[in-house]
Amino acid sequence: MAIFFQFPATLPTVPCLLLFYSKLIILTERFSLRIFATLFSHGMELNNGTYQLQGISFDLLAKELGTPLYIYDAAKIVRQIQTLKGAFSGIEPKIKFAAKALTNVSILKLMRKNGIGVDVVSIQEVQIAMKAGFQPNEIMFTPNCVDFEEIVQGVSLGLNINLDNLSVLEKFGKKYGSSYPCGVRLNPHIMAGGNLKISTGHSNSKFGISIQQLPEILQLVEKYKIALNGLHIHTGSEILEIDVFLKMAEILFNIAKDVPSIKSLDFGGGFKVAYKKDDKTTDVPELGKRLSQLFVDFEKNNGRKLELWLEPGKYLVSESGYLLVKTNVVKQTPSITFVGVNSGLNHLIRPMMYNAYHEIVNVSNPKGELKTYNVVGNICETDTLGADRNLNEVREGDLLVLENAGAYGYMMASNYNSRPRPAEVLIIDGEAKLIRQRDTLEQILQGQVDIF
Ligand SMILES: Cc1ncc(COP(=O)(O)O)c(C=O)c1O
Repeated sequence: MAIFFQFPATLPTVPCLLLFYSKLIILTERFSLRIFATLFSHGMELNNGTYQLQGISFDLLAKELGTPLYIYDAAKIVRQIQTLKGAFSGIEPKIKFAAKALTNVSILKLMRKNGIGVDVVSIQEVQIAMKAGFQPNEIMFTPNCVDFEEIVQGVSLGLNINLDNLSVLEKFGKKYGSSYPCGVRLNPHIMAGGNLKISTGHSNSKFGISIQQLPEILQLVEKYKIALNGLHIHTGSEILEIDVFLKMAEILFNIAKDVPSIKSLDFGGGFKVAYKKDDKTTDVPELGKRLSQLFVDFEKNNGRKLELWLEPGKYLVSESGYLLVKTNVVKQTPSITFVGVNSGLNHLIRPMMYNAYHEIVNVSNPKGELKTYNVVGNICETDTLGADRNLNEVREGDLLVLENAGAYGYMMASNYNSRPRPAEVLIIDGEAKLIRQRDTLEQILQGQVDIF
């Protein structure tokens, strides 16, 4: 910023001065526009009949970069980070972005720039996080059902590690004893989350070590002198009730008070965001207040301070993301009007996999008459993106936007039907920056071995 206001070293002539000042004004204007775009952007907005993000129209993005296209709003991500950080007082939570939600290097760098660490579940995610500049101590590695060799790699890289199986804890103890600290992921037997597929803390879930096996955990810790430094629980995704987190807190503090080596309590992710207008969301400010108090009280009562760790995925990126698609056909059957778009479950699997609701907006015809449609993909499979949706009249060629596509959208995309995965673009400071190219046929064929 300073550079915009520096005077030239030599005394300029009048034309030079004019040129200098006009440049200064342009730069300053651009700078204020950027500040404006970052601070005051409110996601997708209808301005003068055009849907825009940070002043850039979806039309223009489609023209310049094609469709289908994943679009992310950096300003929204930064706002979510600030809201989450601001919810706590008296303690500083360590926030680790659940990279699996959106593992694009540019997004990870944006997180890091804003003081966020990273939560990973595979060695490949670790490598991408390190490529984005994360230091090993900023990375939380919580793998599930992986080969022990992957954990050994995690140790050699110097990561924070959570183990989620007794046999793995035993192997870890045998190999490392007290020489390398680790945490354990617990299964608290709590049913929570938006639906069964995204519930991970109930007694029949494959995740974590059952809370009923706590004695066995502690026996192994004792036997091998394991340096147990953290406890972790992630009960699921889209958890509305803060009581779930408070119940987790009760379990975690209760264990931590008797295990002095424990330094951090990790509450996982799972905060619910709004999928529809007026949808209820996790009361993050209230949760922050309550958890802060519990951590402060723990310190007061036990004479030692614990760190609070969180691993939000959806909360940080879901609402920042949009999937922009084009209507290929409008198909009228005797009972239903289908809108067939140039995307599908290959690009956004959440509606078919989790019954997830993604708001759909016809950005090409904001004033069109409202009609009811089933929006479907072009995949040879039933791939409904949204059923019974009231949209402004959709015509062939119209652009539609699917909202809440930032988390587990691109990351769960595939080349099914041999179609390329979309490009990804980040809107940052009022500018659109391509952060991933659309797949090419060469990439799709890459790795195939033609044996004939
Ligand atoms: C261990 C762990 N932490 C954090 C998350 C992030 O969850 P969410 O995106 O719901 O915040 C997940 C999601 O699957 C997870 O498995």
